[in-house]
Amino acid sequence: MAKKESHIKTTMEEGEIYHPPEEFKKNANINDPGIYKYAEENYEEFWAEKAERLDWYQKWDKVLEWDAPFAKWFVNGKINASYNCIDRHVENGKGDKTALIWEGEPIDESKSYTFSELKDEVCKFANGLKELGVEKGDVVTFYLPMVPELAIGLLACARIGAPHSVVFGGFSPTALADRVQDSDSKVLVTADGYYRRGKKLNMWENALETLENTPSVEKVVVIDRLNREDISLTEGRDTYYHDLVENQSLECEPEKMDAEDMLFLMYTSGTTGKPKGVQHTTGGYLTGTSLTHEWVFDIKEDDIYWCTADIGWITGHSYIVYGPLANATTTIMYEGSPDYPEKDRFWKIIEKYKVTKLYTAPTAIRLFMKWGRKYPDTCDLSTLKLLGSVGEPINPKAWEWYHEVIGGGKCPIVDTWWQTETGMILITPLPGITSLKPGSATKPFPGIQADIYDAAGNSLPPNQGGYLVLKRPWPAMLRTLYNDSDRYKKTYWNEYGSDIYFAGDGARQDEDGYFWVVGRIDDVLNVAGHRLSTMEMESALVDHPAVAEAAVVGKPDDLKGHVPVAYVILEGEREGSDELEKELRAHVGKIIGPIGKPAAVNFTRDLPKTRSGKIMRRILKKLEAGEEAGDTSTLRNPEIVEELKKQVSN
Ligand code: WTA
Repeated sequence: MAKKESHIKTTMEEGEIYHPPEEFKKNANINDPGIYKYAEENYEEFWAEKAERLDWYQKWDKVLEWDAPFAKWFVNGKINASYNCIDRHVENGKGDKTALIWEGEPIDESKSYTFSELKDEVCKFANGLKELGVEKGDVVTFYLPMVPELAIGLLACARIGAPHSVVFGGFSPTALADRVQDSDSKVLVTADGYYRRGKKLNMWENALETLENTPSVEKVVVIDRLNREDISLTEGRDTYYHDLVENQSLECEPEKMDAEDMLFLMYTSGTTGKPKGVQHTTGGYLTGTSLTHEWVFDIKEDDIYWCTADIGWITGHSYIVYGPLANATTTIMYEGSPDYPEKDRFWKIIEKYKVTKLYTAPTAIRLFMKWGRKYPDTCDLSTLKLLGSVGEPINPKAWEWYHEVIGGGKCPIVDTWWQTETGMILITPLPGITSLKPGSATKPFPGIQADIYDAAGNSLPPNQGGYLVLKRPWPAMLRTLYNDSDRYKKTYWNEYGSDIYFAGDGARQDEDGYFWVVGRIDDVLNVAGHRLSTMEMESALVDHPAVAEAAVVGKPDDLKGHVPVAYVILEGEREGSDELEKELRAHVGKIIGPIGKPAAVNFTRDLPKTRSGKIMRRILKKLEAGEEAGDTSTLRNPEIVEELKKQVSN
């Protein structure tokens, strides 16, 4: 098992402690530390009170039914997520408030929607989907760039009870086809293309290639982002979005969904090649995401909130769309790249919209650091009140830079730990309460119980590295893996019993109870905040006729956190070459998508293996990190380690 192979580093320099600024604390939504004790002692009541923040058609009979590892929250409650994100705000007099601001990559191209306008757009799309035959329970797949129709589409699906499955636009046709097939989607929503760094990029071609392998798809909706005239639609199957919605009614009654009805699927990488369809439901997810959004980002009525994630990942689902809109917060989505037309684009957006809360990722912060402070320094960032970080551990140096250069030394930073599976933020500061230690996501959110276990399931004392676990269910948790509850049990609830969630992260707690997450301990790589499975990359490599065997490991990288590096044994007498390296990288890129391309390919005659023939990736990882290989006595072929060491250092 991968876990036992891993070596957990516990070192991370610790520096200063930052207390909440007095003024911030005074005005914070939550500034009484008693909330932790209250939520701990009144766990179910706490979540029930928070669920009351939403509008329900019918109240639940029971807060939680925990038949470990299967949870039901707000049993028999009836609710609609789209209604809660839009209609109720319109009914509460906020119809004219800006809900969504969309900033296109081409400068001066932007749109904004009030809650009333958003309601109209969502109803039209929802009616359009119905016209295509989409019914409650049918999965709709989205393969889109960051266009407003993506946010609108999610809410349209939620409105009619059709679960959505968004596949990141950077994935390849093969990866998309796998996900469409696994979810048995009948409808695919895609675009003709998109803008990236000023260039027009194709998307339609990928969709067409996908459709050759997805017999389940009956209807395709195409968003005309680039006004391309060189594409032809297939009659009966394909419709342009603008044609579909043109004459639709502005009314679409929201479906009364059960709290436990599936809201969406989100595919994520796991330890085998097959992606996992993480299944989220309606009532608990919306309760968890909206509460954490309000408390962690200290959301106020007039906030202009910007999360820079792509809606193709969970962060965009929970903290661009559902959390903020459920709270009637003005939320921004940006289409493009941070360096177009200049490396100051993010700061220009903050200046333009007077952004008050910014949520981004360490990999972006490190890039901005590299570009230098001259870019942010020429923009007015004085409206910012709070900064957030997510996706990987933030190194203290990047934290300090973010705090000083972007936040002007006055904004608390919320370093938020969570996962696709957890649905909502779980370990995080509450900015009006928690003193911050750069590099630590600090403490579990009220009501959440986290701990560090050793391999035998003992809770570890302070400062010993172990495995991060969660000891109680939480409302936005995944309910299962789509059509695969066995894998759900095995992956998350198997290490320490069926009621302890195994997060797959290595971490430690310090003497103050602060959590320091180190990173994945399984075969998942975190590349620039994107989760990729090394197994998926390995099977893509082995798929190439020249490759006999392959191992992929992460190599530490200053900007991206880690980059994938491949070790490859070639078939027969074949010899490695620069051309073959290029070809293999391209091959993986084609199967997984550009984000999966290994940074380098090492050709080798053998791989370090145990006597039972298992590849010891741990050793390759250490070589890449420039560390000593450690004990190689259990290997069948210890001599290969020296050989590879020379090769890597060359
Ligand atoms: C990592 C993204 C340290 C972690 C929301 C987790 C983090 C994986 C943090 C989930 C953080 C996320 N500090 N590590 N603040 N946030 N991670 O599913 O390894 O794309 O297991 O969800 O990212 O990635 P996912």
